[in-house]
Amino acid sequence: MTLQAALPRELYVDPEAFARERERVLLREWSCVGRVSDLGLDGTERVAVVEVLDESVLVTSDADGALHASYNVCRHRGSQLFPTEPGAGPQLCGAKSIRCPYHSWTYALDGSLLRAPHTEDGDVEASEFGLHRVAVEAWGGFVFVHLTPSVASPLSALVERADRTLAHYDLGSLVTGLTLTYDVAANWKVVAENYNECYHCGPVHPELSRLVPSFAGGGQGLDWDAGIPHREGAWTFTMTGTTDRAPLPGLDEDEKVRHKGELVYPNLMVSCSADHVAAFTLRPVEVDRTVIECRLLFHPSELAKSTFDPADAGDFWDMVNRQDWAICESVQRGMSSRAYTHGWFAPEQRPRGAQLVHQQLEPQLGGLVLDDEQQLVVLRRVAERALRREQDVELQVVAVGHLAAEVALDALLQRALARDVGHAPDPSAAPLPPVEPVETTDPGSLRRSSLSKPLTPARSVGRACRDR
Ligand code: FES
Ligand SMILES: [Fe+2]
Repeated sequence: MTLQAALPRELYVDPEAFARERERVLLREWSCVGRVSDLGLDGTERVAVVEVLDESVLVTSDADGALHASYNVCRHRGSQLFPTEPGAGPQLCGAKSIRCPYHSWTYALDGSLLRAPHTEDGDVEASEFGLHRVAVEAWGGFVFVHLTPSVASPLSALVERADRTLAHYDLGSLVTGLTLTYDVAANWKVVAENYNECYHCGPVHPELSRLVPSFAGGGQGLDWDAGIPHREGAWTFTMTGTTDRAPLPGLDEDEKVRHKGELVYPNLMVSCSADHVAAFTLRPVEVDRTVIECRLLFHPSELAKSTFDPADAGDFWDMVNRQDWAICESVQRGMSSRAYTHGWFAPEQRPRGAQLVHQQLEPQLGGLVLDDEQQLVVLRRVAERALRREQDVELQVVAVGHLAAEVALDALLQRALARDVGHAPDPSAAPLPPVEPVETTDPGSLRRSSLSKPLTPARSVGRACRDR
């Protein structure tokens, strides 16, 4: 059996590596920030203030219901337009425009500058002072933002697979019945990699494995396209495997008794039972801390019933979630040991599983495989060449093909250099070996299987903006 090395320790435990990853990877990807309706953006003339990767962002719905987004930063002297404490939950409010509290520069909901008081006689060109734009799109009732819009690919490409495989669940029509929020002491990649493999399901989730027996098989042979069957007599993720709720309309006969799941990289995971959907959003906060929101979505006709009670699904998901977070926190503590350098992936996990981040990063690395000693040799040579030529190492790394490469390569480079303390660069070093193409994996094949419980009605997570 051949194991494949996982990403190096530094990327899970080093605050500086996390800062680089935030800047060079996460801020260059779409981030799911919640549900359109939970954020009040299903109405017109609304503003939601959300925190994304340590940035405060305004998402607005204009008079026509079109979504816009911008940084929560006034173009005049930088005041926050909606003063927001770091770590605060979403603020939701109605607004026809956005007025800065400092000197009253006022912006339209699309971010354009409407008024800059007492500058009428000057040369302020309003078109040059619109708010710093953030890209925003909605899919399946979820709001996604991209904080570097100049490099954003269309969201449609990201969700193409989920859009197809989960079409019958009509995600956009579902409403939040319960939200469970967890503050987990683990790097977001630990959580994501755990979520996207079922190698651990047998040991970590005995109840889930009894409900879905094939989960106990090491994660092999799971046909996610067809959905994963429950044990005889069970058809949903509750303690009993059944519920009083009806299956979602539109499901085919298989979907009424099976479980499906999809990943929308990097921070949304969707697990679909016949009567409800568990949607997980990850919010990386620190290198060893991730806030996770688990929303349970139901058909509106179920929430409308006076007898609606999501506790059966909520209790089950909360149990499974806490099992996951506990093992993730254990992994994080173990990774923090000086004895740990990197982990390993079993080959049977490769198609869909724990190598989530690895698989996503590899294509971004321009074909450079990260996972064996040979690569350390390559990286050492890169470093040696850079040092010999007194070049900026980053320039060498960028030449590999993608900024995201820097994050992983920096860490490996430091490790390679650390091994070579006192090692004089060899002027006769052989040229770099050719870069081998990487076997790519369909990102859509990465998904997972478990869920959680709601404790907070969706809207209660927000606080109202001041009137304006
Ligand atoms: S800082 Fe916003 S109007 Fe002056
Ligand atoms: Fe799990």
